[in-house]
Amino acid sequence: MSAQNARAATAIVILAAGKGTRMRSKHPKVLHRIAGQPMLHFAMRAAQTLQPERMAIVVGHDAEAVADSARELEPTVEICLQEDQLGTGHAVRMAEEVLADFDGQLIVLFGDTPFLSAETMANLVDAPDAVTVLGFHTNDPGRYGRLVMEGESLLRITEAKDANPQELAITACNSGVMAGPAKTMFRLLAQLTSENAQGEYYLTDVPALARAEGLKTRAVFCDISETLGINDRKDLAAAEAAFQARARINAMASGATLVAPETVHFAWDTALGRDVVIEPNVVFGPGVEIEDEVTVRAFCHLTETRIAPGASIGPFARLRGGAEIGEGAYIGNFVEMKKVTFGPGSKASHLTYVGDASVGSGANLGAGTITCNYDGVSKHRTQIGDDAFIGTNTALVAPVSVGDGAYTATGSVITKDVPPGDLAIARNRQENKQGLATRLRQRLLDQKVGKE
Ligand code: UD1
Ligand code: CA
Repeated sequence: MSAQNARAATAIVILAAGKGTRMRSKHPKVLHRIAGQPMLHFAMRAAQTLQPERMAIVVGHDAEAVADSARELEPTVEICLQEDQLGTGHAVRMAEEVLADFDGQLIVLFGDTPFLSAETMANLVDAPDAVTVLGFHTNDPGRYGRLVMEGESLLRITEAKDANPQELAITACNSGVMAGPAKTMFRLLAQLTSENAQGEYYLTDVPALARAEGLKTRAVFCDISETLGINDRKDLAAAEAAFQARARINAMASGATLVAPETVHFAWDTALGRDVVIEPNVVFGPGVEIEDEVTVRAFCHLTETRIAPGASIGPFARLRGGAEIGEGAYIGNFVEMKKVTFGPGSKASHLTYVGDASVGSGANLGAGTITCNYDGVSKHRTQIGDDAFIGTNTALVAPVSVGDGAYTATGSVITKDVPPGDLAIARNRQENKQGLATRLRQRLLDQKVGKE
């Protein structure tokens, strides 16, 4: 409680200037997506859990694209350009100018480390006068910087390339995340040299410089799963898999049934209510919110969709672009909906496309209902009233409306508004030619015999 109240103001610097060569991509590494969200946004959201006063992103490779993506999530973010990537310590210094007036805690994160928890973020800043490094333990420390500890306190960090055999045997590793008083951090960063194996200005030299001044240094530890860094496509896939595994467990823990969990694919923000049933092979894109007692049957693809309690979706349905499905509604197989409000208890049971439309409550859309919403230039709206009945294979040429309780006849092409309670028939009348089929067949057979 008191620790919370005493918490100093925080500024976050996220390093995202590197090229990410090993991704073999024309796009900057931090904009590659995990669960539908750029990995940079994961880092920014972790930062946001501390409600920082300031946030700065250090950009370099493809600076514009990275800056645009950062501003999309947080318009007030400061963008700092690092023209040449001279090392992580050099990168942090690029934020010194925009934070010149800042006198709280500075926290450095990497844009390619997406999974830091809110709890870990809070632990980082609970000793405001210390330089704090976020570490993790692993039996395979590989290329990570090693944390050389003396009891609770951190003596220094040694990069793997600069380490001696004793140091290489250390299993306490540097996640890359560091926190400390901003003024102190920038003063120490100004002392960095590039006399090391990689000829870079290492952020990791800051703890040793702090100790040389008699300042407090420490490490806090988190699980290795939180510090997972992404360097290549294999890491990206592993991060995706780790995210999905957690999302499935969380969904089940909060009361959803996943019939075959490993086949359900979540987005970073998918929200499921209680007693939701998700059948196999369902994919969620971003922006999906599903309330209690909804069933999503096999092979559905949902993005930017809200589904009210008790609705049933699929199998093989695609909902997207701001679909709002009302309570107890029924969406059957091979139905696509885009930018639609679909009222309570309404049904679209099979083979239907509804786009840019509103449908009232208790309406029924027959098989093959199509809203013709696009004229090649603009999109137009279709309105369908409460309890309306759209006959099978109706084309609704928007802009058009069908009033409450109205019917459209099967096979109609509806180009004019249908008033409430009316029946619209917009197709040719049927005519039966008596005996003509029999005569026609006989004539065709005679012609065939004549040719032989
Ligand atoms: C860094 C740490 C290492 C730690 C590891 C954890 C240093 C010197 N080493 O090594 O101790 O175990 O992370 O993953 O800090 N960046 C810039 N500008 C630069 C250099 C890097 O913005 O000039 C950014 C990169 O885009 C990346 C992050 O900083 O997001 C980390 O850089 P990277 O080169 O991947 O550091 P590592 O060698 O992994
Ligand atoms: Ca790295």
